[in-house]
Amino acid sequence: MKNFIRSLLLLIAVIVSTTGAQEEIYAKEGQDITLKPISYPAQSYVYWYFEKQDGHQLAWVNHLGGKGFNEKWKNSLSLTGTSLVIKNLQKGLFGTFFCKITAAGQISQKMIEKSASPLLSGDNLSLTCSLGSVPQNTPEIYWVSPQGNREGNKGTVDIQARSEHNGQWDCVVKKNGNEKKFPVSVTVVDLAPVPSHLYTSTDSPLTIPCSLISSVTWEQVKKKEIEEVQWHFAPKLSSGTSPDQPQQLFSLDLEKLTWKKNANNGLSPVYYIKNGNLSLTKSKATVEDRGRYTCSMKFKNGRTLETTVDVVVLEIIAHPKTELIYGQQVNLSCSTGEQLPNDMKLNWTSPKTSSSYISYPTHITVPEVGKEDNGKWGCELWQGGNKLTSDEILLKIGEHGKLSVWMLVIICSAAVILLLLLVLAFIHYRRRKVQFSRSYSFLFNHTDLLVQL
Ligand SMILES: *[C@@H]1O[C@H](CO)[C@@H](O)[C@H](O)[C@H]1NC(C)=O
Ligand SMILES: *[C@@H]1O[C@H](CO)[C@@H](O)[C@H](O)[C@H]1NC(C)=O
Ligand SMILES: *[C@@H]1O[C@H](CO)[C@@H](O)[C@H](O)[C@H]1NC(C)=O
Ligand SMILES: *[C@@H]1O[C@H](CO)[C@@H](O)[C@H](O)[C@H]1NC(C)=O
Repeated sequence: MKNFIRSLLLLIAVIVSTTGAQEEIYAKEGQDITLKPISYPAQSYVYWYFEKQDGHQLAWVNHLGGKGFNEKWKNSLSLTGTSLVIKNLQKGLFGTFFCKITAAGQISQKMIEKSASPLLSGDNLSLTCSLGSVPQNTPEIYWVSPQGNREGNKGTVDIQARSEHNGQWDCVVKKNGNEKKFPVSVTVVDLAPVPSHLYTSTDSPLTIPCSLISSVTWEQVKKKEIEEVQWHFAPKLSSGTSPDQPQQLFSLDLEKLTWKKNANNGLSPVYYIKNGNLSLTKSKATVEDRGRYTCSMKFKNGRTLETTVDVVVLEIIAHPKTELIYGQQVNLSCSTGEQLPNDMKLNWTSPKTSSSYISYPTHITVPEVGKEDNGKWGCELWQGGNKLTSDEILLKIGEHGKLSVWMLVIICSAAVILLLLLVLAFIHYRRRKVQFSRSYSFLFNHTDLLVQL
């Protein structure tokens, strides 16, 4: 079943003169064409006929200046000298025209078809371009795709429509080095292709692409009876390699063309989506963003268009931590959370003056950090000659002294407090002692008294 057919039946006007010379004219619906007898012997009558009119005359002209037109076609016909001019060539006038002079002239014909409904990606697209009545020396006919490639066989293209087929196709008719192009526009409703993997890092923004191919409008999408547009996300489990169950992130309100958020992971859709940009963005990626994102458009006929992107987030982790003291050992590991394919490589950048470190495929060890290791350490993910993404981490290395200043302050404060406590205790003790001796003397005094008594 062909659900989209565009055919151009181009008309060739072959005008045969009494000497047998021919001329061919190609034309397309809507054009004005001029059919001109090649030779016009003086003192003759010229009659133009159209094959579909049962040989009825369309127009005539004579050397005396007389002329006439067929009632039915008179609005679209005129005569310039002996040439028949057909304005805004319509379907009904596709056929063969004859010109009778003394001998016979001949011909022409043409036609076109225009089914303008947009195609859904995956629909069958059929383009044909053929010549009505083909004379000897058949011209070459072929199609040129929107990418400029020659396509099809003998003027026929039968393919499954894809995004790259959207745009202007040209039927080219070529003969004796002359060529003429007949453009036909094809609209394919599809999502623009996206890369299968998207690389970013915890130091970089994240934009997950999804958009209608440019030049496709929401009106055309609606014409294909769109049912729903959604974003799904299947997080990548840190342990396993296969994505977890997908969750719905967003769904589109097709009336208002606004997104409804169904899960919060910090991603926001592009605000203005009238131009078909359905991308999600975030100013800084996190490791929680790792996973598979699917942008899908479902149509009432059960068809679904979707694009899927695996988001890979590169991250550097410092063990034991990023704030270190002189002489400590530190390990920096750089990872995407999964095994790297063989064609990918990590390499490291260190602060300019950094001391030697030991480098392994996915991590480095600095046996004893020094002041010169202070600063930004980076990790780059390379594939072939391309840097896919990079991440950075800031190491803060403190000297012993600097770190212990606070310790010293604390120790000193503690010592001062202890001293104060001791002083207080001593004072207290002294007071108690004085009171004690006073009460003793009081007691003694009384004893004295008693004794005296
Ligand atoms: C496209 O054409 C093929 C046969 O040429 C047919 O089997 C298929 O169902 C058609 N696809 C659609 C979507 O109509
Ligand atoms: C869609 O919007 C994002 C974020 O503004 C932008 O980066 C991207 O280039 C846009 N895509 C298209 C196809 O316009
Ligand atoms: C760094 O990694 C090595 C193994 O490569 C390990 O022996 C060492 O304990 C690690 N050091 C720290 C501070 O994590
Ligand atoms: C990292 O490695 C790639 C190739 O694997 C190389 O082209 C690039 O220059 C290296 N970068 C640094 C900073 O060494």
